[in-house]
Amino acid sequence: MFYLCLSIFIPKPLENETLYILAIESSCDDTSVAVLKNDIMLSNVVASQKIHEEYGGVVPELASRAHQQNIVPVTYQALAKANIDKKQLSAIAFTRGPGLLGSLLVGTSFAKSLSLALEIPLIEVNHMQAHILAHFIKAENMKAPEFPFLALTISGGHTQIVKVKDYFDMEILGQTLDDAVGEAFDKSAKILGLPYPGGPLIDQYAAMGNPHAFEFPKPKVKDLNFSFSGLKTSILYFIQKQTSQNPDFITENLADICASIQFTIVHILMGKLKKAVKKTGIKNIAIGGGVSANSDIRKALKDAEKEMGWNTYVPNFEFCTDNAGMIGIVGYYKFKSGQFAEHDTSAKARYNLNS
Ligand code: KG4
Ligand code: ZN
Repeated sequence: MFYLCLSIFIPKPLENETLYILAIESSCDDTSVAVLKNDIMLSNVVASQKIHEEYGGVVPELASRAHQQNIVPVTYQALAKANIDKKQLSAIAFTRGPGLLGSLLVGTSFAKSLSLALEIPLIEVNHMQAHILAHFIKAENMKAPEFPFLALTISGGHTQIVKVKDYFDMEILGQTLDDAVGEAFDKSAKILGLPYPGGPLIDQYAAMGNPHAFEFPKPKVKDLNFSFSGLKTSILYFIQKQTSQNPDFITENLADICASIQFTIVHILMGKLKKAVKKTGIKNIAIGGGVSANSDIRKALKDAEKEMGWNTYVPNFEFCTDNAGMIGIVGYYKFKSGQFAEHDTSAKARYNLNS
């Protein structure tokens, strides 16, 4: 019976068929739903969860509860904004992983129910692939990178350099051995007494400070891997030492501290990218993930175009941090290549980039 249901849902993609994909993202603390017409974004609604600010980080149990509250209204908003009736939808795409299991379960269960109720196919999406393929969304000021390209994915949970040979052919060349770069921003911000998520705040204060005011050690990590936990510790010791001599040290120097931290992080990221370009000979560079909203990494990449002849691809801000639009574009390419999910699929907290 169940098998019969599934076989009814699985379509053969037709040439020139217009596809309407409803995409759902719920891997961390943003509930997001998007509607795409082929590779064009019709709507991309994001409900960010403010509840975590007072705890200084994402509380998994609170995140999944907030997803449960948000998912239905956010879906209605996305459909209304796109001016699409649910009966017009061709498929439901959803984030299967990686992420917080409780959060992923909300999106996964909702996606499965919608797919069953509307009798349309289900498409599972890898969140990290989505951060990379977000570049293929057709939107103003966005151009798609040419294959092969190198993707630097920098978020709150990941830091990777990936060689992207085709939409679904990716190879991790290097990654963090401990903290992700977003964590390095957020934990440094916490040490400075800034609220969560501190990355965007460090960026704001850094714009007003001197990046060479203070020097922090750059980790010596082999090959194309990263390590950020040592940086966090050295910032902690530095701040403890300074505030023991001057309790107002942070307030008096906030912009300079933020600028120096940001300079160090961007220097580490750019150093590894240069190494990756040298190793692979690939000069098409795309960035993705929440930290790609950072103004200095964006500027450093633009400078590299002139200085090193790279072609750089930086997504619009709305496609940097977690959003369902990027899930939808992967859904679109998976639909076109006939990659559909079974309804007994389950959320995966750890999920290999190529799965
Ligand atoms: O991709 P994302 O929205 O969620 C994850 O999958 O983790 O990334 C969130 C991360 C947070 O650590 C946040 O502080 C960081 O991206 N972030 C930034 C900026 N905007 C967001 N970090 C530095 N500068 C920014 N402008
Ligand atoms: Zn993300």
